Amino acid sequence: MSKGGYPSVCVVDTHSTRPAVPPRLSQGRRRAGVAQTLLFLLVSVALCGMAIEACFIYRLYRPGSATSASTSKLIAGPVVTSPPEALVLAPSKPVAHLTDGQDVVHGTKIMAWSMDAAPLLYEMDYKDKSLVIQKEGYYYVYSKVSFLDIDVFYHSVNRRTERYSGGSIPLLVSRRFSVGSSEMRSNSYLAGVFHLTKGDALFVKVSNTSHIARLKSYENIFGAYMI
Ligand SMILES: *[C@@H]1O[C@H](CO)[C@@H](O)[C@H](O)[C@H]1NC(C)=O
Repeated sequence: MSKGGYPSVCVVDTHSTRPAVPPRLSQGRRRAGVAQTLLFLLVSVALCGMAIEACFIYRLYRPGSATSASTSKLIAGPVVTSPPEALVLAPSKPVAHLTDGQDVVHGTKIMAWSMDAAPLLYEMDYKDKSLVIQKEGYYYVYSKVSFLDIDVFYHSVNRRTERYSGGSIPLLVSRRFSVGSSEMRSNSYLAGVFHLTKGDALFVKVSNTSHIARLKSYENIFGAYMI
């Protein structure tokens, strides 16, 4: 044993004669004790590692089980919640959709649009009854109005631009000539695609805004979006 690769133990042996035996034994025991504690430490470290691993596995497993639970709920159908991401998602291009509303005060011919009735307005401005373009491009422009069919009624979408100084150019027009005074309600829908530049203002003009039927905010609309 003394030759078996423990030179330090041999050195201790030569120095001490008789009383050296119990210390050697005790030293051996101490070494065994150290080895035991080391082993204990290693085992406990391994156990800790396993416990942490178990935690991770549990964490990995938990979201999977949660989604499966929610999908089963969706299939069952009692709780259907729309994803909140869809509400905060910004449009990829300029877009505007305006409606009538309580706050709207029309001009005699030029229609105004509500800023209270949750207008959709992204990368476009609403100023002086007009939609103001911020980004140059091709836009799909539309407007729908509901009106009292009394006599002559026209509905148009116009463009005011710096390129044509003074006045504005009509982009879309619809006319209606009713015979007699039926006082029926009619609708006019206009839509088209136009190339618009920065600063261009779009507005809706009618023959007489007091002939517009204003029952619901969504009956009169005006919008545009870049294509
Ligand atoms: C608009 O219509 C109202 C009611 O029919 C009428 O009193 C008014 O004179 C009209 N305004 C114009 C500018 O034609």
